[in-house]
Amino acid sequence: MRFGSFDDEQREYVINRPDTPLPWINYLGTEAYFGIISNTAGGYSFYKDARLRRLTRYRYNNAPLDAGGRYIYLRDNNPAKPFYWSPTWQPTRTALDKYECRHGMGYTKIKSELAGIVSESTYFVPLGENLEIWSLTLTNNRAESADLSVFSAIEFCLWDAVDDSNNFQRNYSIGEMEILDGVIYHKSEYRERRNHFAYFACSEPLTGFDTQREDFLGAYRGWDTPLAVEKGASAQSVAAGWQPIGSHHVRVELQPGASRQIIFLLGYQENPVSDKFDPPDSQTINKKSVKPIIERYLQPAEAAAAFQALRVYWTGLLDKLRVNTPDADTNRMVNIWNAYQMMITFNFSRSASYFESGIGRGMGFRDSNQDLLGFTHLIPERARQRILDLAATQLPSGGAYHQYQPMTKLGNNDIGGNFNDDPLWLVLSVSTYLKETGDWSILNEQVPFDNQPGSEQPLYNHLQRSIGYTTDRLGPHNLPLIGRADWNDCLNLNCFSDTPGQSFQTTTSKDGTVAESVFIAGLFVLAAAEMIGIANQLGNRAEAAAYETEKAKIEGAINTAGWDGEWFRRAYDNFSQPLGSIECTEGQIYIEPQGMCVMAGLGVENGNAQKALDSVAKRLASEHGIVLLQPAYKKYYLHIGEISSYPPGYKENGSVFCHTNPWVMIAETKIGRGDQAFDYYKRINPSARQDLSELHRCEPYVYAQMISGTEAVKPGEAKNSWLTGTAAWNYVAITQWILGIRPTFDGLQVAPVIPTTWQGFEAERTFRGVHYQIEVKRQGPGNQVSLEVDGKPVPGSVIPLPAEGVKQVQVKANIW
Ligand code: GLC
Ligand code: GLC
Repeated sequence: MRFGSFDDEQREYVINRPDTPLPWINYLGTEAYFGIISNTAGGYSFYKDARLRRLTRYRYNNAPLDAGGRYIYLRDNNPAKPFYWSPTWQPTRTALDKYECRHGMGYTKIKSELAGIVSESTYFVPLGENLEIWSLTLTNNRAESADLSVFSAIEFCLWDAVDDSNNFQRNYSIGEMEILDGVIYHKSEYRERRNHFAYFACSEPLTGFDTQREDFLGAYRGWDTPLAVEKGASAQSVAAGWQPIGSHHVRVELQPGASRQIIFLLGYQENPVSDKFDPPDSQTINKKSVKPIIERYLQPAEAAAAFQALRVYWTGLLDKLRVNTPDADTNRMVNIWNAYQMMITFNFSRSASYFESGIGRGMGFRDSNQDLLGFTHLIPERARQRILDLAATQLPSGGAYHQYQPMTKLGNNDIGGNFNDDPLWLVLSVSTYLKETGDWSILNEQVPFDNQPGSEQPLYNHLQRSIGYTTDRLGPHNLPLIGRADWNDCLNLNCFSDTPGQSFQTTTSKDGTVAESVFIAGLFVLAAAEMIGIANQLGNRAEAAAYETEKAKIEGAINTAGWDGEWFRRAYDNFSQPLGSIECTEGQIYIEPQGMCVMAGLGVENGNAQKALDSVAKRLASEHGIVLLQPAYKKYYLHIGEISSYPPGYKENGSVFCHTNPWVMIAETKIGRGDQAFDYYKRINPSARQDLSELHRCEPYVYAQMISGTEAVKPGEAKNSWLTGTAAWNYVAITQWILGIRPTFDGLQVAPVIPTTWQGFEAERTFRGVHYQIEVKRQGPGNQVSLEVDGKPVPGSVIPLPAEGVKQVQVKANIW
């Protein structure tokens, strides 16, 4: 069953009933001011950091779902018994005659009709501004005129979302507001150490306003039955402590057929510390800098122009790679939603979604590096800065803080380091950047360790230390030591936690000299190959040769201790016993080493790759995707850690952990099996799962972190949508390996491994400022490529970089 459909032309997902299985959300904002918004206008806004600068309140895990949002109430004042409703359905949840939500690229439109009153609201953040616009248009479809009241409503957060949700002894006393010229200013803590405030403005003259929650809602009432709306009159409340809110009341008289647009602005503004107050010796906010911004965007023409600019911006980004394949789900994910999701994961890492509360974590080192693998071509300059920020949190040992805080850019001491896979991902992201841009200057950038001034070394030195970090830490089988965990955060082989509430991520009970990871070994081989490529490009032959030696050593360890006979083993525990082996009773086979080792080229020549992937197909693949391991752990094992804390089929204990599936897709292309690779791609493609929405539950336009696995109570249910490494990796799998269009140091490569039934496809790719028009035609059943570039045959599958000044290149690729 579906709850909507795709409008690819508009790049929108159109939801046609408000009661989706979960709130289906979208993101507003591009660089600093952000918000999440659901299909019924739920969600919240923040400036840069969802924990430290939260503008509005949202209540996670509430009943009903999705509490707190950008609310509008309409009240019909005409009838003998006036009535009111929410045109976005929440929070009154009044049945609407018509409802439609369109989530687009950085905006959401919700349109509805009740009793002949049509309401259309568009929410977005103008490029370069720290504010959001709600543009509301009301139309009277009745035969008689309508006397309406419009109420807006938001609840302010007192900035630090954690403190806001628990420090009530203080917070019930600090709320402070100003109301001037119809603008509501929220200035809690402005008097002391903050130099920023929020404002909520409306384009129309006000009939009334409220800023104290209880005065607006009435005692013991919820957002679904606000007293002010029921009565049709605001209380003109000025919050002093308690719960500051913002609500405008506007009276609108609409003739039959007439429309009226009302604009609301919610924004964030900083003042220089020396210029906070006006007059300077008062406690009144200096509004000089914000007034022109408010005046500007309250004008419908300015708001419309800003919306148009946002549309154009997204067209420019998405045009960098467009494909036209025989498969509609592929086209829309690659051309629209997958690319969009990558921008979101780039911006937020794992911080703020419907599942990530925005208070828990900073930017993950491995997460952000992996996000770059897909994101880089969209905005290379921002990728460059992100790489430098990440590298600056690296430690002198080559290890890395597992996370850093986006506002300070400093490594997060609470979680620390020792996740031994972390540093290797930096090699992959840098290599991706180099291949995409050809900008080798990044390697000479002076970057500190642990952000310590004076410790700067060229970025290249950071990469060398990343490689050294692994080779310095080998275990009894010459495989890399796992540390706290590798990519799988829940495989905690040195943790041995038996105390409730201990963190699996930071508890370490063993000295860590025994437990090893085959996964890190595979990742090392992959990263070492990239380092060899980089060193060779730089002319560092001796260094490249040294990496060859290290790489061969680890490959040897994988081929012996890492091979189980039918698949790659996963790890060795603290007692040197294998995990992911036929010898185990549970967790006999894991997906990660199969994907990672084959991606790195292991077993491709001796047939082990095929064996491993056949084992994946036989033991791990399900209709909902490939599960992470099998059989799942049925009880908690002290020596295995968090993975065995989850019930079977959930999260790392045997769900379809989507992030890992593209590794297998890529691995399949390495052995030339395009049908199998694409089949896996389709199984977790959200658009292809649209008809399963009732079961899948999460949004059909973005990837979720997990889909419950075969051993779950209810297989096929997705969770943790939006913020997942799945976005970048799936994009890499489909565009670079299945469609085969991938940047190399020497030019763009075209080496598709597509399904045998496909007759070909077309693509347009902007690469290093050149527009490539690519046409792929199947001439035979295999994957051999012959290229014709601007009408001339070219050997191999890499298109040589064109001469200076050439901006357009035509490519014909025949596959045999
Ligand atoms: C989550 C984390 C990621 C980790 C994965 C597997 O997606 O963000 O860092 O690798 O889970 O545990
Ligand atoms: C990380 C991972 C998540 C895992 C959790 C366990 O947050 O992202 O997948 O379940 O650690 O604490």
